[in-house]
Amino acid sequence: MKEKNKILAISGSTRVQSTNLNYIRAIAQLSADIFEIKIFQGLTDLPHFNPDLDIEFLTAPEVVKSFRQLLREADGILICTPEYAMGVPGTLKNAIDWTISSCEFMHKPTALVTASSQGSKGHVSLIETLNIIEAMMTPATQLLIPVAKTKINSELKILDEKTLNELNSLIQELHHLALNKKESF
Ligand SMILES: Cc1cc2nc3c(=O)[nH]c(=O)nc-3n(C[C@H](O)[C@H](O)[C@H](O)COP(=O)(O)O)c2cc1C
Repeated sequence: MKEKNKILAISGSTRVQSTNLNYIRAIAQLSADIFEIKIFQGLTDLPHFNPDLDIEFLTAPEVVKSFRQLLREADGILICTPEYAMGVPGTLKNAIDWTISSCEFMHKPTALVTASSQGSKGHVSLIETLNIIEAMMTPATQLLIPVAKTKINSELKILDEKTLNELNSLIQELHHLALNKKESF
């Protein structure tokens, strides 16, 4: 049996009943034969980013080190997030800011799903952030799902055929990027 790609998934919403968390779980089911998805649980444990805590002669906080280690160990990253007030949720942006100088996203196969009421501004903004930190993405690993709550049910079934096809394409493309990266070493 082929080894599965290890994917670290991050939900930009920390709500218990989060639609984005459900999209992550749905993606985990759809990709069960190729991905082993671990959901990062520590978003709200990360301190506010402060470059003073992250300079060479000081060590970063332990929770930050653990987060970076999880990112480094993953073959790929999956982010599912809502848009808040036309932007990226602060907790998610805070987590990403901790990786800017340590470069865990650099050349890392990454997929972004923005599942929100509308979401386009947050989606574009996060793509810009991920591009500047050199995450490995293609258009097929970037998916905006507007009116997202209506397209998935509580049993994690994707109710909208177009969205289901787009999610399957995103999974295949993330798999493709992860495989190519492994083969290039
Ligand atoms: C404080 C707050 C601000 C929001 N702002 C936006 C917004 O700017 N654009 C948008 O599309 N949805 C916005 N929403 C709605 C969320 O996108 C929607 O509730 C989404 O399902 C939340 O994701 P979750 O279920 O994973 O928590 C906002 C929700 C909250 C709680």
